[in-house]
Amino acid sequence: MVGGAKSTVPDSSPAAAGGRKTRIAVLVSGGGTNLQALIDAQGSVITDGEIVLVIANNSKAYALERAAKAGIDSAVILKKELGSQEAFEAAIIGKLEEYDVDFLILAGFMTILSEDFTRRYEKRIINVHPSLIPRFCGEGFYGLKVHEAVLAAGETVTGATVHFVNEIPDGGEIILQKEVAVQPGDTPEVLQKRVMEQAEWIILPRAAQMLSEKLKKERA
Ligand code: GAR
Repeated sequence: MVGGAKSTVPDSSPAAAGGRKTRIAVLVSGGGTNLQALIDAQGSVITDGEIVLVIANNSKAYALERAAKAGIDSAVILKKELGSQEAFEAAIIGKLEEYDVDFLILAGFMTILSEDFTRRYEKRIINVHPSLIPRFCGEGFYGLKVHEAVLAAGETVTGATVHFVNEIPDGGEIILQKEVAVQPGDTPEVLQKRVMEQAEWIILPRAAQMLSEKLKKERA
């Protein structure tokens, strides 16, 4: 499914290439509050990049509504329909090429990508993770599970990390981190919301701008 029939073909003339904004795809699986933070940061924090495509691996993801409301094209790509990780990733690559995407943001994208895929987009995929990597990360640590583990361990400080994605889950180079206090009486849900508000929604747009600016300069 592709939503909308907006202008998807970029101006590829040499004159336009140096000046055009860096083209971003955001990959999502769920609610999409980080996608919303990125949408809201366009034109303020994110001045050198634009979100041209949202890809969801879940047709019910509320993030798709957020994309539609913002007038951003979206695609739903389902692994179970395509039959294999290889076919799933080939479909993603096809969309990224169709939209001439420069880099990818994983914003609550709950699928691990293969080494072939991460190598293809080396230093061009970033992910937001809701802990201070290297704590509470890697396989099995996602979403609320991260905050449950932080509380079970009795931590007083947690936070979020934006990092490059490589073949090791949550193992790529760290770009930005921000600490958040754990408060007495926190539940996983309350802590998740605080980490989002005080860290994720701030550092993800900043990192998106950093990479947008870098790639724009490299094209100039
Ligand atoms: C966010 O907290 C994000 O950091 C986390 O899932 C949530 C998605 O929320 N991602 C991971 O745990 C990845 N390992 P959102 O859909 O509202 O942005």
